Amino acid sequence: MKDMLIHAHSGLRWLVLLLLILTLVQSLRNRSTGSNGKLPLYTLIASHLQALLGLTLYFLSSYVQFHGAMMKDKLLRFYTVEHSSMMLIAIVLITIGYSKSKKSENSAKTLLIYYGIAFLLILLAIPWPFRGLHAGWF
Ligand code: HEM
Repeated sequence: MKDMLIHAHSGLRWLVLLLLILTLVQSLRNRSTGSNGKLPLYTLIASHLQALLGLTLYFLSSYVQFHGAMMKDKLLRFYTVEHSSMMLIAIVLITIGYSKSKKSENSAKTLLIYYGIAFLLILLAIPWPFRGLHAGWF
């Protein structure tokens, strides 16, 4: 069960990244007209689904621990504090960006700012295999 959730969480990263890239490219192309289609909504849904899987894993993962020595251990600190908080901030930014873009005169510009910062945060907080954080590509 836990392994299945980890694989789903790991694989869904690619969909979230792809949707973010597509939304950003579209917003860049439409920045003068300001219009946007359904892509920002699909990105919002995928990122919320990822947050739900992540929050579930937070209670199941052996890398999430609460004790004094946790902060001194790179792996435990990463999943218990860094990964989860940066990802939650990124998803909050996507949510605010989406709702602001609905009311904004130039929604493409609003999306570029909020989704752009979220994209950078997510790239930084992913446990890429070369970072030695016991995670794979899929
Ligand atoms: C866009 C948001 C997110 C992305 C792209 C993402 C991506 C990933 C990836 C790639 C892994 C490694 C999986 C592997 O072992 O191959 C991982 C692990 C993990 N993530 Fe996330 N994550 C996101 C959000 C979150 C959130 C919001 C939380 C919790 C609040 C969370 C909690 C965890 C935990 C606890 C693990 C470790 C699971 C384990 O191996 O025991 N993630 N995440």
